[in-house]
Amino acid sequence: MKGLLLSCSLIAVALLKVNYAADSKIFLATGVGNLHSELIDPTTKENNCQNTPPYPKRVTGAVGGVINDNTTPLVCGGFPYEEGIVYTDLCYTFDFAENRWSPSDIALTSPRRFGASLTLPDGRIWVTGGQGEAGTTASTEIFENGTFGPGPDMPVPKEDHCIVQLDETRTLVGGGGPISTSVFIYDWSTQEWEVKSPLRLGRRGLSCGKFETSDGLQVIFVGGEGEGYFKKTTEILNVDNDKMVAGPEMEKENYGAHMVEFEKELFLVGGTDDFFSTSDILKFNVEAMTFELTEASLKEPREVFVSMIVQNDHSIRGLLRKTTKATSGECSKTLTRLSVGGTRDLQDCER
Ligand SMILES: *[C@@H]1O[C@H](CO)[C@@H](O)[C@H](O)[C@H]1NC(C)=O
Repeated sequence: MKGLLLSCSLIAVALLKVNYAADSKIFLATGVGNLHSELIDPTTKENNCQNTPPYPKRVTGAVGGVINDNTTPLVCGGFPYEEGIVYTDLCYTFDFAENRWSPSDIALTSPRRFGASLTLPDGRIWVTGGQGEAGTTASTEIFENGTFGPGPDMPVPKEDHCIVQLDETRTLVGGGGPISTSVFIYDWSTQEWEVKSPLRLGRRGLSCGKFETSDGLQVIFVGGEGEGYFKKTTEILNVDNDKMVAGPEMEKENYGAHMVEFEKELFLVGGTDDFFSTSDILKFNVEAMTFELTEASLKEPREVFVSMIVQNDHSIRGLLRKTTKATSGECSKTLTRLSVGGTRDLQDCER
């Protein structure tokens, strides 16, 4: 009996090891350069060496979210800087099972770049602000029932700002360009904007994320560019009592990163320190109020990109089994053994 239990649990452990333990992954696409799309788990260094294709267009400042019950990335808009046009409304979807981007019938209601976006708890996607034909815009769009339509205007135009979902009903937007200190919360249940305490310094290209302490719900605003320089500094808003205070400094400046909440922890993914894009993933340690370099890193340095949480379902696991190394250093061996895509996989993975 004891032996049977033991072998059952061994099998369970073995199964867990085959499949990635996490229920979700972070999907990243676009940025500056011809970057591969990538799936990351910031809690492990055994992420990379996937052979996921680049976004079909070299765009920066795109927006997006996940559709089909958090399984399908949808990326739209941005600045296709090679095409002699400065804004686009085009969207592409990524199919994990096929490991392929496809042009989509979905389009933004108006071309825009450098907006901020997220997937709302009810599965709709909210795209806010950015630059369009009429300059920096306060307009927003909501993806609902298969199509983008108008959303509530922000109180002021914003581009290159940050956005974070606070709870089931409230979304915060902060900072952005033209270099701004303003912070607002939209409450979907009352359909009203609340003005919050401003940032102490104007910042664009900042990142923001939420966390809880015994003092309540907090939002940290990280880095960005203000008054001609990139920042190491952060600020923290106590959402409940509306106090904005200085937060911890990072070791390096950071612009164009994403703060991502993953398994109840906050990670700062990518960005640039003014000179170089980074592939670093920092963890924000809420207890110690410090930024810690994690062992995880991006396959490629990336700034001004789109990130979203995707469900780690069977098609993602299939893709990872086909294209990911099992442990660091074993990339080519694993791929050779599986011989999926042959030498093309190998070349893409050997970096
Ligand atoms: C989307 O579909 C739902 C359910 O049919 C409906 O309640 C909602 O009003 C629709 N939204 C829009 C924008 O058409």
